[in-house]
Amino acid sequence: MKVCTFCNSIQNPSLKFQSFLLIFSATILICFTESKLQTPPLILPLRTQQIPSGSLPKSPNKLPFHHNVTLTVTVAVGTPPQNVSMVIDTGSELSWLHCNKTRDYNNTFDPTQSTSYSPVPCSSATCTNRTRDLTIPASCDSNKLCHAMLSYADASSSEGNLAADTFYIGSSGIPGLVFGCMDSTFSSNSDEDSKTTGLMGMNRGSLSFVSQMGFSKFSYCISGSDFSGLLLLGDSNFSWITPLNYTPLIQISTPLPYFDRVAYTVQLEGIKVSDKLLPIPKSVFIPDHTGAGQTMVDSGTQFTFLLGPAYTALRTEFLNQTSGILKVSDDPNFVFQGAMDLCYWVPQGQPKLPPLPSVSIMFRGAEMKVSDTRLLYRVPDQAKGNDSLHCFTFGNSDLLGVEAYVIGHHHQQNVWMEFDLRNSRIGLAEVQCDLAGQRFGLTV
Ligand SMILES: *[C@@H]1O[C@H](CO)[C@@H](O)[C@H](O)[C@H]1NC(C)=O
Ligand SMILES: *[C@@H]1O[C@H](CO)[C@@H](O)[C@H](O)[C@H]1NC(C)=O
Ligand SMILES: *[C@@H]1O[C@H](CO)[C@@H](O)[C@H](O)[C@H]1NC(C)=O
Ligand SMILES: *[C@@H]1O[C@H](CO)[C@@H](O)[C@H](O)[C@H]1NC(C)=O
Ligand SMILES: *[C@@H]1O[C@H](CO)[C@@H](O)[C@H](O)[C@H]1NC(C)=O
Ligand SMILES: *[C@@H]1O[C@H](CO)[C@@H](O)[C@H](O)[C@H]1NC(C)=O
Ligand SMILES: *[C@@H]1O[C@H](CO)[C@@H](O)[C@H](O)[C@H]1NC(C)=O
Ligand SMILES: *[C@@H]1O[C@H](CO)[C@@H](O)[C@H](O)[C@H]1NC(C)=O
Repeated sequence: MKVCTFCNSIQNPSLKFQSFLLIFSATILICFTESKLQTPPLILPLRTQQIPSGSLPKSPNKLPFHHNVTLTVTVAVGTPPQNVSMVIDTGSELSWLHCNKTRDYNNTFDPTQSTSYSPVPCSSATCTNRTRDLTIPASCDSNKLCHAMLSYADASSSEGNLAADTFYIGSSGIPGLVFGCMDSTFSSNSDEDSKTTGLMGMNRGSLSFVSQMGFSKFSYCISGSDFSGLLLLGDSNFSWITPLNYTPLIQISTPLPYFDRVAYTVQLEGIKVSDKLLPIPKSVFIPDHTGAGQTMVDSGTQFTFLLGPAYTALRTEFLNQTSGILKVSDDPNFVFQGAMDLCYWVPQGQPKLPPLPSVSIMFRGAEMKVSDTRLLYRVPDQAKGNDSLHCFTFGNSDLLGVEAYVIGHHHQQNVWMEFDLRNSRIGLAEVQCDLAGQRFGLTV
């Protein structure tokens, strides 16, 4: 899922339609250890993505999270291979590429230049059966080709034909992977959109990349200190990774209107600020009869969003515990990204933030502790005197119109995240992701 590329700053009219969905620009190194490919374990560094210089911290004084955050991976597609960059999204199913040559951007896949490209006819089982988990049913276009429409939580959308082609991950080619070759796209953040060719769907739906490739497990580790990251497709029980804590994936067999059955849904059980457990009734964390209230782990969303009652409790307590430490912005009209309404003025010259109370998100069986710089995000272009505006990185789902708790990738930094499909669980542990990269012999 992509949440909140459409971000209003009501205070500043010039910002009103500017969005800050920072898709995650990182160096992702793909490693294969187990797959259909029958290759011996492979650890392959891919292209180091150039980060636009404007997005790098310019002085050591700036906080390390001042960067554009888009989780992207570079792979090659077609015969001969064309390089494409794709946003990794555990919150959606169908992988897709921009295919419209008239698009203004360089990041386009040209199907007419690939001899292995084959469009999916709408009479095929792929179109009739394997599209069953898509939110919008596939249809048949005038050429009798399978037509897909996708829409995301941030109001962006795209449509085009389902097709199959060979994807190269490292040097291994995987033929016949089904993806959407999109003619028409609407993005609420075309700046970010122009930097990537498409999206890699990683949820549990039938057509997602992981499902198609038959991986029983994948993992990623997002470094907090630099722009690096690691995506590992296959088994990951390396002895040097500290033991993971596991939380089971929640499944609901009956279809419910607001419940995404192919998402990575976990059970939220509580939230702590420092060591104080917030007084939130357990029922608030349990999906209701409509399916509203599930908790999804989503690499396609930057920040974390909580339903109103939980958000309000967290906001109140964090505000309480930071009073006297930080200067609250009292402008009630400024809501960062339309959902984050707790912001602070922090002196720009200040080398680092004062010690902040940590926030722990407690899942059944596992806990994710968010601390220090990951708690506040510096809002670009917002300054008053010597102060710059920093907002709390948890937002209110209600303000976004999202009926779920969404755990975004900003809070998954320096956490080894394992998606164990075979055992239907997610494992996590705090690690230094840049060091994890080095353990694979990769310098980033
Ligand atoms: C993200 O990058 C774009 C262009 O590279 C830049 O205009 C924008 O200000 C950056 N945003 C942040 C928050 O750094
Ligand atoms: C694709 O990427 C590879 C590896 O970075 C590079 O060697 C190759 O020149 C690129 N191909 C094109 C057409 O840009
Ligand atoms: C496309 O690539 C060319 C050459 O690399 C560059 O000059 C141009 O600015 C790019 N256009 C866009 C929209 O990124
Ligand atoms: C549809 O897919 C399911 C799961 O892969 C399979 O069990 C079923 O036989 C398929 N149905 C048709 C009509 O192909
Ligand atoms: C391709 O994009 C152009 C410009 O955005 C649009 O006018 C055209 O309709 C698109 N083509 C298709 C087949 O959707
Ligand atoms: C990982 O652990 C599982 C079960 O604990 C085991 O079946 C599997 O062989 C292990 N894989 C590797 C690569 O060690
Ligand atoms: C913080 O909460 C405590 C306990 O509820 C209360 O006594 C105190 O007045 C609060 N402080 C602020 C600044 O709201
Ligand atoms: C801003 O910082 C400068 C240098 O540290 C100081 O002289 C000035 O008084 C500060 N301005 C405000 C409004 O705090």
